Amino acid sequence: MSASLVSVASTTDSSANPSSVWFTAGYALRAHNTFGFDVRARLACRIEHEADLTKALADPRAAGLPTLVLGGGSNVVFTRDFDGLVLLNALAGKRLVHEDDEAWYVEAAAGENWHDFVAWTLEAGMPGLENLALIPGTVGAAPIQNIGAYGLEMAERCARVRAIELATGTAYEFDAADCDFGYRDSFFKREGRERFVIASVTFRLPKAWRANAGYADLARELAQRGLSQARHARDVFDAVVAVRRAKLPDPLELGNAGSFFKNPVIDAEQFDALVVREPQVVSYPQADGRVKLAAGWLIDQCGWKGRALGTAAVHERQALVLVNRGGACGNDILDLARAIQADVRTRFGVELEQEPISL
Ligand code: EPU
Repeated sequence: MSASLVSVASTTDSSANPSSVWFTAGYALRAHNTFGFDVRARLACRIEHEADLTKALADPRAAGLPTLVLGGGSNVVFTRDFDGLVLLNALAGKRLVHEDDEAWYVEAAAGENWHDFVAWTLEAGMPGLENLALIPGTVGAAPIQNIGAYGLEMAERCARVRAIELATGTAYEFDAADCDFGYRDSFFKREGRERFVIASVTFRLPKAWRANAGYADLARELAQRGLSQARHARDVFDAVVAVRRAKLPDPLELGNAGSFFKNPVIDAEQFDALVVREPQVVSYPQADGRVKLAAGWLIDQCGWKGRALGTAAVHERQALVLVNRGGACGNDILDLARAIQADVRTRFGVELEQEPISL
């Protein structure tokens, strides 16, 4: 942890009389993971106020149990029941905390629904998050894997993250540098994973707004709407929603965790050899000279798009998304993922790294 971090008092907890809601043994997690796996937690507790957290962890029933914080459950593959305490992050609240000539600073509690929060910022006249519309999950999950889509990563708008250390109950403020964001990665996905629970995130939304509409699918959608020069964030928001609806399955209708693999980044030498064999390969040169490949294209080329192994399947419209057609368990999805990884490795010599966490 960096020396710049300071322990801070609560800013979002408005509760004078916090109360933990306890569930007895065998709490069903089906509605708390977007794959819709039928798994249970030994014990679960709904955290509505920051003070609930300390109370829950100090409760004798929690003693010695492993803990897992769940927001929307959009980045997790449960392969078995969770034999521990699940903390359901239901911290709520969003507000403008500060405004200067250059930007609005908006804080949202971790349990807020991400898409509803993005819509709220636009309705309040504060653009800047519209490219990230319709991403499933909660505000608290956003920094963990640095959510990104259509030319924007959450890291670019993150001012600070307030997180509570599970072992001590102490709250810390992380600025964007402390979060150590990378592509679908952060401190909270690595070293901080079992150590901190995110309580809130503060976003910096610059007032000098310009449409970020260069991403191919988004530019096409805007052009089709006669909006090649999008002048309102709402137009970008609507176009992003339309593109996502056309390509990505709604977890409420078809269980999934978004992209199941990261887009792999390979070195220039490996890319030069690959492009000779596979001239059509979809690639994005990186600032450091390496090259990012479109994993969806690699999987598609291996013939996996729309294919299934039992009830675990590859989505028909985006090969990067694995889906639960109904009744699949975590291991069914992982078996499918291993088969895809093996085929991509054999044909392209490229390793696909899984994005969601397996438990
Ligand atoms: N492609 C195919 N076949 C497919 C899927 C993609 O040929 O089945 C090709 C496309 O034609 C395109 C390229 O691969 O040329 C990239 O596809 P797309 O624009 O759909 O984006 P992606 O790289 O597959 C990433 C993110 C998505 C994000 C989109 C849009 C990752 C791992 N995924 O997907 O994020 O929505 O870009 O920005 O970076 C997520 O993380 O859960 C997620 C959905």
